[in-house]
Amino acid sequence: MFLVTGATGGLGRRIVRRLREQDMPVRAFVRLTSAYQELEDRGAEIFIGNLQRDRDIQKACQGVQYVISAHGSGDNAEALDYRANIDLIDCAKTANVQHFVFISVLGADRHYEDAPTFKAKRAVERYLQQSGLAYTILRPSGFASNLLPLAEQFRRTGIYLLIGDPESRSSIISTDDLAKIAVDSVSVAEAHNQTLSVGGPEILKRGDIPKIFGRLFNREPFLINPPVLAVDGLRTVLGLVNPRLQASLGTLRTLLADEFYCTPEEIQQVENIYQFRLETLEHFLRRYLAI
Ligand SMILES: NC(=O)c1ccc[n+]([C@@H]2O[C@H](COP(=O)([O-])OP(=O)(O)OC[C@H]3O[C@@H](n4cnc5c(N)ncnc54)[C@H](OP(=O)(O)O)[C@@H]3O)[C@@H](O)[C@H]2O)c1
Repeated sequence: MFLVTGATGGLGRRIVRRLREQDMPVRAFVRLTSAYQELEDRGAEIFIGNLQRDRDIQKACQGVQYVISAHGSGDNAEALDYRANIDLIDCAKTANVQHFVFISVLGADRHYEDAPTFKAKRAVERYLQQSGLAYTILRPSGFASNLLPLAEQFRRTGIYLLIGDPESRSSIISTDDLAKIAVDSVSVAEAHNQTLSVGGPEILKRGDIPKIFGRLFNREPFLINPPVLAVDGLRTVLGLVNPRLQASLGTLRTLLADEFYCTPEEIQQVENIYQFRLETLEHFLRRYLAI
C-alpha cells in the first residue's frame, strides 16, 4: 500500500493516477474539503484527515509500505512543510515503511534565510537522511502544470505577467514526468537513498515562456514585466495585517529573484536512473492544451 499526501494537489493527483494505472493499492490522504472524487473513482482508498494533526498521520501510516510526501503548505511552512513531514517520517518508521519519497525543492540546500519553505524542506531532508528509512529525495524545479492557467489566460488575452528578470534561467519539469519519477523511486535501485535535482530537459530563460505561448497560440505576447521590488512593496503592506503571509511571500520572492535550473549532468543523471527521456515544456503544453 502506498500513502500519498497532497493527493489532490497538482503533483499528488498525478501520482495517484499513475499508481492506479498500474493497479497499485494507494491510500490518498485528503482533507474533508478537498476535491477527491476523481481519486475515489480511480480506486484509491480515501483517508480523510488533516496533516496538522499527528494522530491523523499516525492512523494514515498503518499498514503502509511506501510513503510519498507531496503536500504543499499554503502560507504555513512551519506546520506543513516542516512539522507534518517530521511526523510522517516518525510514523513511517514506527510502521516499518519500506521506502519514503520526499518532494523537496530545487535549491533547498542554498540556505535561503528569507524563504520558510526552503528552510523547512532542507531540515526535513536532513531528518529523513538520518532516519534510517530507505528514501529518495526529489528536488524539483517549477512544475509545468503551474503554467496551464497562465497559458489559458494568454490564449484569451495575449498578456503575460513576468515578475523579475526575463533572462534568469529555469528548467521547468513536466508534472507527469515528476509523478512517474516519484512512483518509480521505490522500485528503481539506483534511486535508493539518493537526493536528486529534477528539472526538464532544457534550460529555459523565463522570458522564453511567453515566446512559447506566442508560438502555441500564434499570437504576439504582450509582456508586463514589473521588477521583483514590486513583491517587496506588497510584502511590506501585507505584513502590517498578516505577518505569516508576509513570511511566506519570502519564499515567492526567492523563487522570483533567483535562478532554478538543473545542469545538463543532473538532467542526464535523472534520465539514466529512471531510463526515460524527460518531456519539454512545449510538448507538455501541447498535450494538455490539445494544440
Ligand atoms: N508547484 C511547484 O512548482 C513546485 C516546485 C518545487 C517543489 N514543489 C513541491 O511539490 C509538492 C507538491 O506541490 P503542488 O504544487 O502539487 O502542491 P499543490 O497543488 O499546492 O497541492 C497542495 C496539496 O497539499 C494538500 N494540503 C495542504 N494542506 C493540507 C493539510 N493541512 N492537510 C492535508 N492536506 C493538505 C492540499 O489539499 P487541498 O486539496 O485540500 O487543498 C493539496 O492536495 C509540494 O511539496 C511543493 O512544495 C512544488
